[in-house]
Amino acid sequence: MTAQLQKSKLAFIGGGNMAAAIIGGLATKGIDKKNIFVSEPWEVNRNKMSEIGVRTTQSNIEASQDADLLVIAVKPQVAKAVCQELAGAWAQRSTTPLIISIAAGITLESLRGWLKLADGRVPHIIRVMPNTPALVGEGASGLYADESVSLSEKDLAAALLASVSKATEWVDREEHIDVVTGLSGSGPAYFFAMVEHLIESATNLGLSKGQATRLAKQTCLGAGKMLVESTEEPAQLRRNVTSPNGTTAAALESFEASGLKNIVDKAVKAATNRGEELGKTLGQGDGLRACCLSFSFFIRLPQVLQRYFPLITVVPTLARDAYETVGAERGGGGRVWVDEHNTYGRVHQLLVSRESDSDRHGRRRFQLMLAVFPFEQRVFVRPQAS
Ligand SMILES: NC(=O)c1ccc[n+]([C@@H]2O[C@H](COP(=O)([O-])OP(=O)(O)OC[C@H]3O[C@@H](n4cnc5c(N)ncnc54)[C@H](OP(=O)(O)O)[C@@H]3O)[C@@H](O)[C@H]2O)c1
Repeated sequence: MTAQLQKSKLAFIGGGNMAAAIIGGLATKGIDKKNIFVSEPWEVNRNKMSEIGVRTTQSNIEASQDADLLVIAVKPQVAKAVCQELAGAWAQRSTTPLIISIAAGITLESLRGWLKLADGRVPHIIRVMPNTPALVGEGASGLYADESVSLSEKDLAAALLASVSKATEWVDREEHIDVVTGLSGSGPAYFFAMVEHLIESATNLGLSKGQATRLAKQTCLGAGKMLVESTEEPAQLRRNVTSPNGTTAAALESFEASGLKNIVDKAVKAATNRGEELGKTLGQGDGLRACCLSFSFFIRLPQVLQRYFPLITVVPTLARDAYETVGAERGGGGRVWVDEHNTYGRVHQLLVSRESDSDRHGRRRFQLMLAVFPFEQRVFVRPQAS
C-alpha cells in the first residue's frame, strides 16, 4: 500500500461484485474507509457497501466530486452514459481524477471520447482487467496505460489493484488487455469447468459426489499453490509427477489424443476475440441501433406471449425493479435470477432463464429475459393465481 493511495480520495461508480472485492481488499489493507465513496443505484448493494463502512450515494456526480482516483465499475454497456454524465459535471473542476476503468472491452479511445470535458480536457485513464478471485484476495489483474499517464499515477493504480490481486501485470499494447481477458479475466471459469468435469467423471466411476467434490477442489487448490510457490515451469511440474507408463501418463496421453492444447487455444482466442468485439460494438454506437430494434421487439413480446399463453401474466419490468421485487419476495435475499449469459447484454437474444422457482405461495415462476442493448430488461412471467 503506497502512502499516495492512503491519502487519496477514492470514488467507485457502481458498487457491484468487482467494486465490493476491491473495496473489501482496500479495507483489509488498512485504507481509511472514509476516503472511499461509492455510488450505486441499487439499494441492496448500497447497503452492503455501507456495512463495510464506506460512504455511499445514489449520485455518481456526488461520489466523484472530491475524488483523486475514480474507478468505473459498471457493466460495459452502462459505461458510456456514466462517463458522459461525469464529464458534463466536471466542467468547473480545475483538475480531474485519475480514471481506472475495469469495464471489459471498452477501449481508451471510447473512454476518452466519452470523458472529454467541454473545454477539451481529457482525464488520465488506465484500463484494468481484474478477475473474480479478487473476491478472496487472490486476483490477477492486467493493466494498460498510454504515455499520457504518469509513473506515479501508474503506481497508484497498481497499489489499488494489489489490494486484491497477487499478480498485477502491465501490458504494453492496449489490445493485450483483451488477451488478459481471455487468459485471467475469464480464466477462473475454465478451472471451474475442469473441476466440474473431474467431479462428474469420478462420480460416474463410483465415488460419492461429496467425496469427488472435496478431492477435486483440493487438487485444484494444491496444484495452484505448487504453481505459484515453485520456481519450476508448469511443464516441469507436470513432468515431475508423470512416471513413464504410469497413471498420470495415461491420462495426459488421453488429453493429447483429444487435442487438449487445441481446445484451450481455441477457447482463449474465442474469449479474446469476444472482448475485442464487445469494445467495437459498445464503442461505435451500434448499441443504440441494436437497442431500438430490440426495444420494439421487447414492447411487442408481452402481447405475443399473452396471445399464445392466455393463462399467464406477463410483467415487463426494469432490471432493478425486478431485482428488488424478487429480492423482497424472497426475504430480501439478494440478487436472484440474474442470468450470467446476459452479462454483456448480447443483442437480439431472448433467453429463457434456466432458473425457475416458486413464489412464497408455492406458485411456479418463470423468467423470460430479453437483452435490450445497451440495457438489460427482464420480463417476468407468472402463472395467474388460481
Ligand atoms: N465480475 C468479473 O469477473 C469481472 C472481471 C473483470 C472485469 N469486470 C468488469 O467489472 C465491471 C463490473 O462488473 P461486476 O461483475 O462488478 O458487475 P455488477 O455486479 O453488475 O456491478 C455493477 C454495478 O453497477 C451498478 N450500476 C448500474 N448502472 C449504474 C449507473 N448508471 N451508475 C452507477 N452504478 C450503476 C449496478 O447496479 P444495478 O444492479 O442496479 O444495475 C451494479 O450494482 C464490468 O464492466 C465488468 O466488465 C468484471
